[in-house]
Parts: sequence; structure tokens; C-alpha cells
Amino acid sequence: MVIAKKWVLVREFVGKPKNGDFSLEEEILPDEVNDGEVLCEALYLSVDPYVRFLCNVMMKPGDTVVGEQIARVTTSKNLKYSVGDVIRLSSGWRSHTLVTDVSQIEAMPDLGDLPLSVVLGAAGVTGLTAFFGLEDKLQPLEGETLLVNSAAGAVGSVAGQIAKMKGCTVIGFAGTDDKVEWLKELGFDHAFNYKKVDVDDAVSMAAPNGVHCYFDNVGGYLSTQILPHMHRGGRVLIVGSIATYNDIGKSTGPYPFEDILKKCVNVNGFSIYDMYQKWRYGEVHLVKLLQQGKLRHRETITEGFELMPSAFIGLFEGTCTGKALVKA
Ligand SMILES: NC(=O)c1ccc[n+]([C@@H]2O[C@H](COP(=O)([O-])OP(=O)(O)OC[C@H]3O[C@@H](n4cnc5c(N)ncnc54)[C@H](OP(=O)(O)O)[C@@H]3O)[C@@H](O)[C@H]2O)c1
Repeated sequence: MVIAKKWVLVREFVGKPKNGDFSLEEEILPDEVNDGEVLCEALYLSVDPYVRFLCNVMMKPGDTVVGEQIARVTTSKNLKYSVGDVIRLSSGWRSHTLVTDVSQIEAMPDLGDLPLSVVLGAAGVTGLTAFFGLEDKLQPLEGETLLVNSAAGAVGSVAGQIAKMKGCTVIGFAGTDDKVEWLKELGFDHAFNYKKVDVDDAVSMAAPNGVHCYFDNVGGYLSTQILPHMHRGGRVLIVGSIATYNDIGKSTGPYPFEDILKKCVNVNGFSIYDMYQKWRYGEVHLVKLLQQGKLRHRETITEGFELMPSAFIGLFEGTCTGKALVKA
């Protein structure tokens, strides 16, 4: 008998998620599996802001919290997977998973010497969001100025580095001085702590001719301050809006629509899940950049499955640099 632990949503979030919104429950799984099935134990689990954003769409009270993990196969009656194999799957915040349909298992890329955890971050969904957000959508050109916020985060840090590789002048905003220092180490041309500087002055100084591409992970008031600095015909990709995910009621602005109108700015939303067919191509590219040392990454790893809610709540408090993960 295997006792799986799982984090269950107790109630819909109201405002910022709280520890009490989650409950740790146990589920008994069989020792033996049926033909074609696999049993696995989690190694690393991803915590992601989208859990807050899509709470009412993807989960209802009583559901296991959604999320991706990498896991080791402990029992197998499937010819494709052997005991000890490392797999990744979106089975949610659970310590052990009985996989009855192995088509749910995502192929692992060939990582070489890279740590396994990169497939949940820089070479996984967040890295792919940065890669395709730039490659397919914003398409920044050499010599253009690109601004990214939550720039020391999982998506933002990869987006900023790829924009540098493309020959852009890159401006990053992050919420602590340590994060700002890291962005400078990564080669960002300008990096600011948005909690300490006057954002309007900072963007005026760093982008005197305007921002051509705005990779927006944050939204809210920060975007309201940045959008008036767009270059005429500039491109905005709304990738995330973490500043407003915890708002109660509808988000209302203020939004500088007149600036967008005057400068004919193109604003688009983006979902990495619309690019699913291209993920393998993106992964290969990101793994290569990581292996070549051209793309650097950080992870903030919380030790212990019991701390999943705290690691998740930390996303809204800025406690993580790079990809936020939990080691089971
Ligand atoms: N569209 C898609 O397909 C897609 C896919 C993945 C992620 N996303 C979105 O992309 C964004 C980044 O995701 P991620 O996984 O890389 O998370 P992340 O940036 O690694 O982590 C969250 C960070 O957001 C910042 N933050 C939190 N509240 C903030 C606020 N009120 N104002 C400004 N910054 C705030 C914090 O950093 P600071 O210290 O800098 O404040 C925090 O560390 C999120 O909005 C997420 O929902 C979208």
C-alpha cells in the first residue's frame, strides 16, 4: 500500500491566497498496478501564478491543486516505462501518482549534464513562454529596446536574456536589490527595483526614444506607468498580470488608452498553451542554450512537499528568484 499525499483546494481564493485555502490529505494507492499503468513518486513540483489566475476555471473546492511535476517511476506494468525512469506529468500537487493513461506523461528532453529540474523552468513551460513570446509574437529586432517586468522571475529572466541575444537594449524591473544585481550580471542594460525608483523617470532615462517591445508579466499600476513610454507602433505582449490576480472584483485600471491610441501601439494577449505543437522545438533550443552557457537560470527550491502552499504564496510576495519549485 502506498499512501499518497495531496494538496486540495478548500475554498476559492479571496484576495491573496492563504495557507488555510489548502488542505493536506492522504489517498491510498495500490502497491500493484494494472497492465499498462505506472506508479510514480514526485521529485520536484512546480508552483505557478496561473493557479491563482485560473482558480475558478480549473479547480473547485475539493480538487487537487493543479500543477506540473517530475517524478520517478516506482512500479510499472507499461513496456515504455521502467522502474527508476524519470517522467514529467501534470498530476497536480501530489506526492505519488497512479498513471492509468500514460499518454498524460510528457517526454523528457535529453538534458545531458543539466539538472532535471530545468524541465519545470528554463527548459520547460516558463522558458517556453519567454522563447515563443519573443520568437513568435513580439519578434524584437536588433537595436530595438525591450522592457520586461518580473524580470528576475522564471519567465522574465529568460525573456530578457533571449532579447539580449537578439541584439536588443533590455530594461528589466524587479522587486528587490538582489534581483536587480542578478539582472545586471545577466547582461541587462538597465535594471531597476520598481519598489524604490520612480518608474516614469527610470523608463525615460533608459529608453529616451521609447520602448519598442514590452514583455508584460505584471500588468496593473506598473503597466500604467510603462505604457506611456511606448515607441510609436510599439508592441506589447500581455503574458501575465500578477499584480491584479489577487484583486477582488473586476480589474478597473487606470489604463493609458489614449497613449496606446496616439502611438498606435499593438497590444496582444498570449498563452503558451496555444503553442503546444511547437513545444518540442522550443525545448531543444532552450536546452542547447543552457548547455552552451548562453542562457543562465536560477531556481528557488523549497524543501518539503508540506510547504507547497507557502512556496506558492511566495510568488505573490516576491520571495523567489528564477523558477519557484518544491523538492518533495
Ligand atoms: N501567458 C502564459 O502562457 C504564461 C505562462 C507562464 C507564466 N505566465 C505569467 O507570467 C508571469 C510570470 O510567471 P512566472 O512563473 O515567471 O513567475 P515569477 O515571475 O517567477 O514569479 C512571480 C514574481 O512576480 C512578481 N510580482 C508578484 N506580485 C507582483 C506585483 N504586485 N507587482 C509586480 N511584480 C509582482 C514577484 O517578483 P518581484 O520581486 O519582481 O516583485 C514574484 O517573484 C505571471 O504573471 C504568470 O501568470 C503566463
